[in-house]
Amino acid sequence: MWRPLLLLAPLLLVLRPPPEAAAGPLSTSTCWIIDESGRRVKLACVNWVTHTEVMVAEGLVKQPLDVISEGIASMGFNCVRLTWPLFLVTDYNLAAVTVRQSFLSLGLNESVAAILVNNPSLVDLPLLQAYKAVVRNLGENNIMVILDNHISKPGWCCNNTDGNGFFGDKYFDPDVWTRGLTKMAGMFCDATNVVGMSLRNELRGPKQNVNDWYRYMQRGAEAVHAANPNVLIILSGLSFDNDLSFLSRKQVKLSFSSKLVFELHWYAFSNGHAWKNGNPNQVCGNISASVMRRAGFLLNQGHPLFLSEFGIDLRGTNANDNRYLGCILGLAAELDVDWALWTLQGSYYLREGVLGMEEFYGVFTYDWCKPRNATFLHRISTLQSPFQGPGLISETKPYKIFFHPTTGMCVVRKSLLVPFQLGPCDESEAWDYTPQHTLALKGTLLCLKAAGDGENVNTGVDCSDSASKWELISDSRMHVSTKMTATDGGRLCLDVGQDGSTIVTSSCRCLGNDIRCDPESQWFRIIDSSRAVVRMYF
Ligand SMILES: *[C@@H]1O[C@H](CO)[C@@H](O)[C@H](O)[C@H]1NC(C)=O
Ligand SMILES: *[C@@H]1O[C@H](CO)[C@@H](O)[C@H](O)[C@H]1NC(C)=O
Ligand SMILES: *[C@@H]1O[C@H](CO)[C@@H](O)[C@H](O)[C@H]1NC(C)=O
Ligand SMILES: *[C@@H]1O[C@H](CO)[C@@H](O)[C@H](O)[C@H]1NC(C)=O
Repeated sequence: MWRPLLLLAPLLLVLRPPPEAAAGPLSTSTCWIIDESGRRVKLACVNWVTHTEVMVAEGLVKQPLDVISEGIASMGFNCVRLTWPLFLVTDYNLAAVTVRQSFLSLGLNESVAAILVNNPSLVDLPLLQAYKAVVRNLGENNIMVILDNHISKPGWCCNNTDGNGFFGDKYFDPDVWTRGLTKMAGMFCDATNVVGMSLRNELRGPKQNVNDWYRYMQRGAEAVHAANPNVLIILSGLSFDNDLSFLSRKQVKLSFSSKLVFELHWYAFSNGHAWKNGNPNQVCGNISASVMRRAGFLLNQGHPLFLSEFGIDLRGTNANDNRYLGCILGLAAELDVDWALWTLQGSYYLREGVLGMEEFYGVFTYDWCKPRNATFLHRISTLQSPFQGPGLISETKPYKIFFHPTTGMCVVRKSLLVPFQLGPCDESEAWDYTPQHTLALKGTLLCLKAAGDGENVNTGVDCSDSASKWELISDSRMHVSTKMTATDGGRLCLDVGQDGSTIVTSSCRCLGNDIRCDPESQWFRIIDSSRAVVRMYF
């Protein structure tokens, strides 16, 4: 397949099929989620809130349902993690309450007028029927749904003492929960776009303990599977879904197989202000290692890991969030995990007593009419399709690509005559990282070479000198450093040049303890990819 010959014009092979709807129920195979044909389906979801007091999917006062669903698809998401409060299905007093009545009971009279304009057909539906209409509409737009039991008592979530945190809390009776899960699972038996259920969001609080976790989560999983054997069973960890480390000592025991997925939540604030107050390389290295110990190890145990909440303030003004994002995107690309961004809604009907609160983590603007931050969406777009897994059109072995989390792009070269630049990851060359520490273009005799401080990198055939040897250094392991020394005697690292695109080498930054320093233009993850190679040198 790989013919080591050097021609000047690369051949453009566009082999990647357009995204399709998943065929049939999903299941798991090692750490991947697959469809009935055995092909990997990567969940690239966005969270959508329906668990607050109103119990109506947010945004329906702002835009027609179908416009919102189309917007989700056009932003590249193939899936929604749709939250629901347990009492919506277990409290018989709520069964008959309509959307209109729910708004009115909370004094949201103007919302009724607005929803009458945008979604007249939903206003007089009972709450559960409205929830179903949302699921159905997402299906019509080819969007998969994860039903996420977010809380019991409708309202904003979550804190340690809100009575919804763990089995036995005031609003969290395990029997009621199991009954609710059974009902919900059965109700969506025929909805083919409902591919999974998150059994309970962010277990937490003073009552949390490992024994009860196994006892009740296994029971809940069996109940859901009995009511609907098609859905993936998604289990959250302890401590706000930050901790699944107990699974390294004891496995979950279930009567069925190939349906189990674990979910992890990871925000910047999960570690307080660590990102802002530390050296970015050290913090990224430390926290990534900790995430691997708390959850990442599950991939090696052969379970899919669903990063079901992560996100940032999309105004780009939160330094803690900004630093975290480059790190988490690098790790998410490397592990190629399934994920759900927090969050869709640009605003809430009513949150924590505030009418029409804006959500700055939401991908829609306040009025839900356009994306809040197109740059951010571009940055995550390559993570919306799989790099690895069964069924990708690929060579038999994965190859390496250079992912640049700060831009969401990869190192590419349009021809041998132009310098390496940032470009779409789908157009990356296939690289090998050899035991000799060279970075070789697969199928050629060429390897990557540094040319000096501020100079463009290039390729050459003499791969034995120090300019051709590359190491991953710094605590983040995201600096790709050559052994060629800089003019000042220090190390040279891959970097993005002044024009914001050309790949150069420059002095490695932030290798010490400096907390103000920003290394991000030098952050690259050399990751495995089995995507079809678009550009090859024959
Ligand atoms: C809201 O609507 C209800 C029912 O139509 C009505 O009884 C109530 O007075 C209205 N409240 C306000 C503040 O307009
Ligand atoms: C926790 O949440 C409950 C319910 O939303 C709220 O009443 C309470 O004030 C919150 N406690 C803290 C410490 O934020
Ligand atoms: C990283 O972890 C090490 C050892 O666990 C610790 O000494 C160091 O302070 C941590 N650094 C940061 C920036 O968190
Ligand atoms: C989008 O986010 C980036 C940082 O990621 C920020 O610089 C930019 O100002 C944001 N754009 C908008 C429209 O908020």
